[in-house]
Amino acid sequence: MSIEQLAETALAMVAPGKGVIAIDESTATIGKRFAAVGIENSEENRRAYRELLLTAPKLSAHISGAILYDETLRQSTKDGVPFAKYLADNGILPGIKVDRGTVPLAGFPGELVTEGLDGLRGRLEEYYRLGARFAKWRAVINIGEDIPTGTCIEANSHALARYAALCQEQGLVPMVEPEVLMDGEHDIETCYEVTEAVLRSLFGALYEQNVLLEGTILKASMVVSGKGCEEQADVQEVAESTLMCLKSTVPAILPGIVFLSGGQDDEHATAHLDAMNRLGPNPWPLSFSYGRAMQQAALALWAKDTTANFAKAQQTVLARARDNGQAALGQWKGPG
Ligand code: 13P
Repeated sequence: MSIEQLAETALAMVAPGKGVIAIDESTATIGKRFAAVGIENSEENRRAYRELLLTAPKLSAHISGAILYDETLRQSTKDGVPFAKYLADNGILPGIKVDRGTVPLAGFPGELVTEGLDGLRGRLEEYYRLGARFAKWRAVINIGEDIPTGTCIEANSHALARYAALCQEQGLVPMVEPEVLMDGEHDIETCYEVTEAVLRSLFGALYEQNVLLEGTILKASMVVSGKGCEEQADVQEVAESTLMCLKSTVPAILPGIVFLSGGQDDEHATAHLDAMNRLGPNPWPLSFSYGRAMQQAALALWAKDTTANFAKAQQTVLARARDNGQAALGQWKGPG
């Protein structure tokens, strides 16, 4: 796989007005989302729900790629078309979550490290054969008293860089995701400082591991106030802080940055992205790779009546894709 091909895939992921839908919840995580709306966490329900999302008509007008979970990459539509083929045939790049989740970092209470490097080369080889063209790895950074530590940040950056190098070797674009969690009472300045340290460390590690930035996408968390912080930063401050933090840490040669929603409500996730793009031109396309902020409205609707509301739920996903696609251009028309 040449760097030109990786770069082409990376650029397609952040094509103007398009972003990524993240539907890569592990079986345990989708189980929590299903439980909240009264849906049984069976393999068929997971398949049917993912089919609803992936086959929403004209999704590719605003969606460039979809991140799947291992199980979903091996599943098919009810008509027997493998999801990866369905996506590729409809102009959407299939992606895959390849990390194996987080575990406590030994010796560092309250901190996490992401696992999944052992045997990763072989798994990536298979994922490519199954049709995946990009791969996501999520590191989680907690903010709290005396955390994150430098050790936690470095351990996670090292793993992200090792995974990213393996992805490029196997022809997949790495979507590197260091998520600074919104949980906590910290203010936006603290989130800024932590995010800055995390991104500096990450890009240092990518350089050390010979990762080619031209074939890499960053999936970033926004610089926001902690959920429990009394004084919540407004949309403009979030947009300005996030942009400043990214501009001071992320090389301009990166093909694009996509954001996670991380527990923001739908409207804020869209408004923040829109505001950042209105502040442009920026060094890279800024788009979305939302999970909850793309799905939650559709899931709630579908759960009420999985048959009667199927089409309506698809229209809801489409509306979220359209709004976020407009926000990726700084052209969102606002709520309602
Ligand atoms: P959220 O947008 O729900 O944070 O999910 C995105 C994602 O893929 C997290 O890893």
